[in-house]
Amino acid sequence: MILVTGGAGFIGANFVLDWFAQSDEAMMNLDALTYAGNLQSLASLGADKRHIFVQGNIGDSTLVADLLAQNRPRSIIHFAAESHVDRSIHSPEDFIQTNIMGTFRLLEAVRVYWGGLNSEAKQRFRFLHVSTDEVYGSLAKDEPAFSETRRYEPNSPYSASKAASDHLVRAYHHTYGLPVLTTNCSNNYGPYHFPEKLIPLMIMNALAGKPLPVYGDGQQIRDWLYVKDHCSAIRLVLEAGRVGEVYNIGGCNEKPNIEIVQTVCALLDELRPRIDGKSYREQIAYVTDRPGHDRRYAIDASKIEHELGWKPAETFETGIRKTVQWYLDNQGWVSNVQSGAYRTWVEKNYQGRG
Ligand code: NAD
Ligand code: DAU
Repeated sequence: MILVTGGAGFIGANFVLDWFAQSDEAMMNLDALTYAGNLQSLASLGADKRHIFVQGNIGDSTLVADLLAQNRPRSIIHFAAESHVDRSIHSPEDFIQTNIMGTFRLLEAVRVYWGGLNSEAKQRFRFLHVSTDEVYGSLAKDEPAFSETRRYEPNSPYSASKAASDHLVRAYHHTYGLPVLTTNCSNNYGPYHFPEKLIPLMIMNALAGKPLPVYGDGQQIRDWLYVKDHCSAIRLVLEAGRVGEVYNIGGCNEKPNIEIVQTVCALLDELRPRIDGKSYREQIAYVTDRPGHDRRYAIDASKIEHELGWKPAETFETGIRKTVQWYLDNQGWVSNVQSGAYRTWVEKNYQGRG
């Protein structure tokens, strides 16, 4: 079996669903169910016995050691993290605890487990660390995209904590020989994205008649990748990536934020027009910028493309249309997130099922 951490979050849940759509291999999903963890995103799995969910913290060394000893996973994919830049600016402590201390404790437990495997299992084992392009800092307008050898220059408490975790993973390979892989990906979008992040926030605010808050001048550039393409890249790196290597993953799709917001408005104008006939663009409101806001990210994904033959399947046009349509079709998921009901969904769903 494989073990994933953070499999009830946005990317983790998409990964879990994709995994079972393509594989029969069992998966243990360790997630603390913070505000960002939502088991309702995995509701379509029903009581699928291949999916073993454990609510717990990656920093709980005893729990992790027991899970590893009892279930003997062949690989671990580490998604769990505090992931929202704005939250890290308001309140960095959780980011240090989970992203740095949590990853450290996880690595320690994994090192002991891996050290006790027989030589064949040891060779086969992989620890795949899911990280972000934000560790590389901000690019000037005409600078080349981030390659894997770009120096680290994290600018927010979030990216600094992810950078620290990347360094720990690297060190566990260099010092102890742990067979690690690291991926650094650009901005994901798609189904089950928590509505604190740009795209789902804009969809939900637009539909609710609320302002669409664009930070600063809205000219900050991000590279956007449909989440299922990120999942396919991770699966490929897990199976064929070279141990100890870093792979940058991106959509080759740089766009200023204001263009993203305008695209969301245009799609909503088409798919769910406002009753007053006006465009959702009228709701755009420029607001005070994010402190320390990185101006531009861009990914050079040529390494994963050339070495492993990975390419995104989705263009931005097809991916964003699917995403907006998904939010329109899944108002139940959306309203449970908005009301907070998703946090009690598990008890509700499983109570009395025996
Ligand atoms: P998310 O915030 O949606 O989900 C994080 C998940 O981790 C949640 O289910 C949460 O409950 C769980 N978690 C948090 N702290 C935990 C802990 N201490 N122990 C166990 N579980 C814990 O995040 P996401 O957007 O799905 O991102 C997943 C990973 O991918 C993160 O490591 C993030 O840095 C990285 N990443 C995200 C993006 C993006 O655009 N969202 C891009 C590149 C990389
Ligand atoms: O680049 C990868 C990263 O992408 C991941 O590592 C992070 O986990 C993920 O959250 C994301 O970080 P960003 O800060 O880029 O994502 P966010 O959706 O918060 O913001 C995207 C851009 O939109 C950013 O430039 C800030 C801007 N923004 C965001 C919000 C929430 C706005 O203008 N208004 C908003 O209300």
